[in-house]
Amino acid sequence: MLPILLLKILATFASKSILMVQYVAPSLLSADFNNLARDIEMVNQSEADWFHLDIMDGVFVPNMSYGFPVVEHIAKLAKKPLDVHLMIIDPDRYLERFRDAGANILTVHWEACKHLHRTVTEIKKLGMRAGVSLNPHTPVEFLSDILPELDLVLIMSVNPGFGGQSFIENSYSKITRLRAMIDEIGCSTLIEVDGGVGPNNAAKLYQAGANVLVAGNAVFKAENPSETIKTIKTIKTIKNG
Ligand code: DX5
Ligand code: ZN
Repeated sequence: MLPILLLKILATFASKSILMVQYVAPSLLSADFNNLARDIEMVNQSEADWFHLDIMDGVFVPNMSYGFPVVEHIAKLAKKPLDVHLMIIDPDRYLERFRDAGANILTVHWEACKHLHRTVTEIKKLGMRAGVSLNPHTPVEFLSDILPELDLVLIMSVNPGFGGQSFIENSYSKITRLRAMIDEIGCSTLIEVDGGVGPNNAAKLYQAGANVLVAGNAVFKAENPSETIKTIKTIKTIKNG
């Protein structure tokens, strides 16, 4: 009885400390591609934790972005982990190539995978951290049987495909529900939020249970991108004082 109680206390403590993690991942989709090296260096020098890279195939989402040569170029200049968000159908075909291009964290969409468990297992076998992303209409409860296997869950707070869209308010409820599921299991899965995120909603998102905030327009269209990254990262919530 006592060991079980101890384990529960430890699990609660562990999940509470994960709650304290506030990471920022600037999305290079909104960077100035004529000055990409300059923008990458800005992120290197900033308080950002990861680079967020958006890969779009024009099929899963109604837009295309960039592919392997650009990812390789970014990887050469980046001094922080590459958090690669695949908005592509049948991602299994390209897992190894993204690893070789420099991805450290690889996130696939729930809606794009027939055998999600196999895909997640393969990503981890290739030495990357595995993430699963959910479109705004996909309930977090669909992840209940795979959650302990995941390094992160990426909640899309806009319909994927474009930067600069408005944040969907229902995302707060999804984050709260997912945080409760993670704490109940006691696993260390991170919650990442992507779309319409910036200094105006960062505190509320961390408060709801998010750990990693992706910001594209809010960072790269800001007067002072580096300062904006710092604001998002260090913003105070009631939980962390
Ligand atoms: C959208 C991408 C996002 C995008 C976010 O499909 O997944 O990462 O760059 O851009 P903002 O922060 O401008 O909404
Ligand atoms: Zn993204």
